[in-house]
Amino acid sequence: MPNTQLGIKMRPSIILCFLLFLCFFLWNASPSSLLPKEALPTKSGYLPVNPSTGSAIFYTFYEAQTPTSPLSQIPLLIWLQGGPGCSSMTGNFLELGPWRVTLSQKEKDVEQLSLEPNPGSWNRIFGLLFLDNPIGTGFSIAATVDEIPRDQISVAKHLFAAINGFIQLDSSFTNRPVYVTGESYAGKYVPAIGYYILKQNEHVQVSKRVNLKGVAIGNGLTDPVTQVATHAANAYFSGLINERQKYELEKAQWEAIKLVKMGNWSEATDARTHVVRLLQNMTGLATLYDYSKRVPYPTDLVTRLLSIEEVKKALGAKESIVFEDCSDVVGEALLADIMKSVKYMVEFLVKNTKVLLYQGHFDLRDGVVSTEAWVKTMKWEGIENFLMAERKVWKVKDDLAGYVQKWENLSNVVVMGAGHLVPTDKPLNSQIMIEDWVLQKGLFANKQKNSVI
Ligand SMILES: *[C@@H]1O[C@H](CO)[C@@H](O)[C@H](O)[C@H]1NC(C)=O
Ligand SMILES: *[C@@H]1O[C@H](CO)[C@@H](O)[C@H](O)[C@H]1NC(C)=O
Ligand SMILES: *[C@@H]1O[C@H](CO)[C@@H](O)[C@H](O)[C@H]1NC(C)=O
Repeated sequence: MPNTQLGIKMRPSIILCFLLFLCFFLWNASPSSLLPKEALPTKSGYLPVNPSTGSAIFYTFYEAQTPTSPLSQIPLLIWLQGGPGCSSMTGNFLELGPWRVTLSQKEKDVEQLSLEPNPGSWNRIFGLLFLDNPIGTGFSIAATVDEIPRDQISVAKHLFAAINGFIQLDSSFTNRPVYVTGESYAGKYVPAIGYYILKQNEHVQVSKRVNLKGVAIGNGLTDPVTQVATHAANAYFSGLINERQKYELEKAQWEAIKLVKMGNWSEATDARTHVVRLLQNMTGLATLYDYSKRVPYPTDLVTRLLSIEEVKKALGAKESIVFEDCSDVVGEALLADIMKSVKYMVEFLVKNTKVLLYQGHFDLRDGVVSTEAWVKTMKWEGIENFLMAERKVWKVKDDLAGYVQKWENLSNVVVMGAGHLVPTDKPLNSQIMIEDWVLQKGLFANKQKNSVI
């Protein structure tokens, strides 16, 4: 009997030892080596947009790596991906976040996913918050399909709830200067939330205001009816199509414009899709997002990374959600929104805060020409001065980095050597751009400061 007792006593401790060893081994071996501790966000999880249904926006937040003042004064950058329906985790893990996913050649030529530090991360001296917007996108939760926004006002209301929820997480967040940034279809979201915040701020006491200090849009779709009209000429003068093809493309563009004017929004969206497909077909390019590339951007790596259970767990994402880099359900919900303009919101923003537009030079979807076309139609007292302002040559260590045109609250930047995903292609230059713009340094310095030099 005593022997048996001893046996019974011994066995669990051996099992425990073994389990501990196994845990230790697993902890060190698989996912944590892919997502090392230092790559984890400072905070991540869910920000409710509707507590009664449970719909919530997923976020990852990375505090500034080397803050230059107390954290309570450090700017807070919010990043919104485009789509509509694409996850900001693409921005996080492929563009401007502190760690980027890559395929590295390991033993026996087997390629493996790995994360590596991004020297061009936008959280070098600023806090950086990624939001999966709208609900239904990435790891965000849409309790029902009906709750997914179908217009920009609804998008803004959800974002506003999420941003306020985030600010309330930590008392040191309350007064940090907020900059809303984003890319592509965020050319709609960024103005929408910026406009909404400024309008709300008019009605609430100072302590309840979101301290919005600026908005930035990269390769944005903002005024689609003007932008859709630029593809033919842009491709023709870039030597990518001939005159007959230019005419064919123009006919397709006119169709999209006509449908916008008639207010047939979904049909107008389809007509625009047709224009883009024609352009793709005529040019035979690997991707219209960057005509210099021979393969598309590797967004599939982000999907692979975020399909790993342990990575999802480490990020605090709901494990039952199957990650997609872009959600068709959200794309469908916003179908009739795509061709609607938010230019009037940018006009309001530029009068009340600062606006940065930047475009990667190689983008054929929402590039330089496409942006310039709508900017010059802006109703703003400063527009003439802006259009006449000098387009300054921007150099980084003697290399041509691009061009900066600025007047008062409006800045426009062309980033050389980059396509649609500017931070992916030009990490360090994109970091310099965003830091200088936020801090009003370098080519973004105000005139008075320039004349002192
Ligand atoms: C535009 O919308 C109207 C009303 O929904 C519809 O009757 C018409 O067929 C549409 N026109 C086109 C060209 O799609
Ligand atoms: C363009 O479309 C035509 C007709 O559908 C097709 O025959 C051709 O292969 C396409 N070209 C490219 C480059 O996709
Ligand atoms: C620029 O923004 C400020 C507010 O930050 C505003 O007072 C000013 O009038 C704006 N300038 C122009 C030309 O719109």
